[in-house]
This record gives sequence, structure tokens and C-alpha cells, in this order.
Amino acid sequence: MTTTGTAGGNTDREITGASIVLDGVEKRYRGQSEPAVAHLDLEIGAGEIVTFVGPSGCGKTTTLKMINRLIEPTSGRIVIGGRDITRMNPDKLRQSIGYVIQSGGLFPHWTVERNVGAIPRVLGWDRGRIAERTEYLLDLVGLDPAEYAKRLPKDMSGGQQQRVGVARALAADPPVLLMDEPFGAVDPITRVRLQDSLIEIHQELGKTIVIVTHDFDEATKLGDRVLILSKGGKIEQFATPAEILANPATEFVSEFIGSGATLAQLSFSRVADVRMDKVMTARVGEPSGEVSARVRAAGGRWVAVVDAAGRPIAWPSLDEIESAPQIAAYVDPRLSVVAPTSTLHDALDAMLAARQNGTLVTTAGGRLLGYVSFRTVVETIRGQLDDAYADEPDYAEFAEATGEEGAS
Ligand SMILES: Nc1ncnc2c1ncn2[C@@H]1O[C@H](COP(=O)(O)OP(=O)(O)O)[C@@H](O)[C@H]1O
Ligand SMILES: [Mg+2]
Repeated sequence: MTTTGTAGGNTDREITGASIVLDGVEKRYRGQSEPAVAHLDLEIGAGEIVTFVGPSGCGKTTTLKMINRLIEPTSGRIVIGGRDITRMNPDKLRQSIGYVIQSGGLFPHWTVERNVGAIPRVLGWDRGRIAERTEYLLDLVGLDPAEYAKRLPKDMSGGQQQRVGVARALAADPPVLLMDEPFGAVDPITRVRLQDSLIEIHQELGKTIVIVTHDFDEATKLGDRVLILSKGGKIEQFATPAEILANPATEFVSEFIGSGATLAQLSFSRVADVRMDKVMTARVGEPSGEVSARVRAAGGRWVAVVDAAGRPIAWPSLDEIESAPQIAAYVDPRLSVVAPTSTLHDALDAMLAARQNGTLVTTAGGRLLGYVSFRTVVETIRGQLDDAYADEPDYAEFAEATGEEGAS
């Protein structure tokens, strides 16, 4: 593992991705009077994650699919890693670009292993190499190969299927990964975990990743840079999330991010950027009395119960654990867990969903790091509000009236 756990925090990682250049790309569908994409010039750096965001029908999917030529451009050039792909054999091209769609797009009657090995088999890899690669990739996306390799997609959750979809897209080690609304069909908590896994995978592999989403929060969380498009594939802004929020380039962008601009700060402040507190842990089967004495001596009131691999499964209060002689193997389905790459928005969502005043923090692989309290998140937001509205009389008055300290 070479990541630091912070989004973009690892500067010396290896970049295996390729640059993507769109040069005057246009798409007109037959029978449509208006072009879906009128004229697009775009440069994406090797190893960058870029998100495409904009209203429905603005040309996001069309643009993405032109990069692997599932849709042929009407005119213009697309260059990947210095090579003009508009002239390449499209089947060869698609074998060298990972592609992930909503719900994974797996073959339902094939095992996980067979799905992941699909492209390597076409490429003529030998069995041993495919098996080794499959095991590595399942592990990378957070699925235990021993448990999942032989399963059918229908016996897995939506989130797990989506993890397999990512493993399959990475099978032949492509320099570029394209994803079209990959997390659109899963519940919010699962979505956060998948996003955090993707950030970790990106830090580990250094691929170039392009993600289409209609969700501005997701775009700012995942994107090193965000491409905001309007109708006809028109670029409204292509910049880092911080830059977009600080200086919306057009009226369209201001309206698109809307009154959520301050709240959007929550979407690029990371859990790794705020204070994390230590949590006391206990293992299943330990005598409750010993655990409770240990936790009380340290001044704690809650204890994270961890499984044999050190992953938290429940977060009971001392009163709860004292009601049984030993620490139970109870798995709390609503346990609130986020990763260092999760945003403060994710952390608040997790706390609200679990009705907890804090959330545990683990690596994307599940190892416990600590916890972040509701109070810490609120204090961070208040600090950001003070900075953002330091010059606004309304906020100053409000702060005074409510006894808050102003930033002046
Ligand atoms: N196969 C197609 N035939 C004709 N028009 C299409 C086709 N696919 C998309 N379009 C049109 O092209 C425009 C852009 O669509 P799309 O790229 O799917 O947008 P987005 O992904 O941003 O929602 C829309 O007006 C859509 O109706
Ligand atoms: Mg689309």
C-alpha cells in the first residue's frame, strides 16, 4: 500500500495513466437538428481524475463514449497517450480502455472470476496469469477472492457488483478508465464507500480516470478537476473544485452550484483534514467487565468492537456491553463508518443515518483509524462560514445576535 489516505496527498506515486486530448470533437446524431456535442477541445493529464458534470442531455455520455469509440465522432480528433485513436481498430482500442457503467454491467450467468477474466481471455493470456490477476484485482476492490471468485452476480449486493465491474474494467491494466454514472444505482452509504475505494485505487494505480456524473457533490469529491458542461457539450468551466467554488466562470456555473456553494465546501473538505479522536477497541469474546474497566479508566464511554481482521463491526456504549458477560459478535448493520478520503458531507450523512454523534474512520480496506465527532465537523463548518462570510453584514449580525464569535 503506497497511499497516504488523503485525496491527492501522495505525490510520489507512479503514474500509469495516459493523457487524453479532444481536438475539435463534434457529434451530430442522425435525424437530430442540433449537435449533441458541437465543438469540444479538452486536455486531460496522464494520471488525472476528471469528472464530467452537467444537466441531463448536455452531452456527457456522448463525450465519454467517443473516447472509446462506442460512439464515433462526426469530426475532430481524439488522441490518447500521443496516439490518434480515431484511426485505430475500435475493438483493439476498447480492449485498452476500461469501461464501467451503472450497475456494473456484468454477465449475469458468469461467475465473478469469469467476468473479471473476460478481456484477458480475449487477449490470449494463459490461465495462471488470469487467475493471479483476478485475485489481485478482487483484493484491490475490497472483495475477498476466496469468498467471491466463484459467485454469480445475482448473489451479490449492488455495491459488490459494482466493485466487480471496476475489477473487470482494470483486468488488462488499461491506462484509461471511463465510468458513466458508476454509482448512480446504489444507496447513499454504499456510494460513499465505493467513491472512497475508487479514490484509493486511483492513488495506488495512477490511472487516468474520467467519470460522468450528474451530482455536483460527487463531481467535486472525485475530480482533481471538474468539467462543467451545458447543452451541446459546451464547456462552462474546467477547473479544480476549489477554483470553481471560489470563481464560477459563468452565470451558468453560479446557478448550477447555486446556493449550495457554501455547503459545497463540505464536499471537498475531507475527513483526513479534521481532528480525529482515538477510539477504544474490544474483541469479540472478551470478558465485558475487563473491557469496561479498561475503557472507564481511559475516560471513554463507547467501545468499537472489532473482528479478527481489526475491522469494526459495532460501536456500543459501555451500558450496552455490560448487559452481557462477554463482548457479543453483534454486527450493527447501520454502523457509521467513513474513510479519510470521505468528505465532511459524507461524514454528516453517515452520522445522521446511524443517529450517532460521531462516525468511525477506517481505511477503505476497513482497518480502524479513529473517530470524528459531530462537534468537530460542526466546528470546522463554522470556521469555514466565518471565513466565507467575514465581510457580509448579515452574517456578522447573525453571529453577534447568537453570541458566535465573528471572524473580524
Ligand atoms: N443515440 C442517439 N440518437 C439520437 N440522439 C441522441 C442519442 N444519444 C443521445 N442523443 C441526444 O444527444 C444529446 C446528449 O445526450 P447524452 O450524451 O446522453 O447526454 P447526458 O449524458 O449528458 O445526459 C441529448 O439531446 C440526447 O437526446
Ligand atoms: Mg448520460
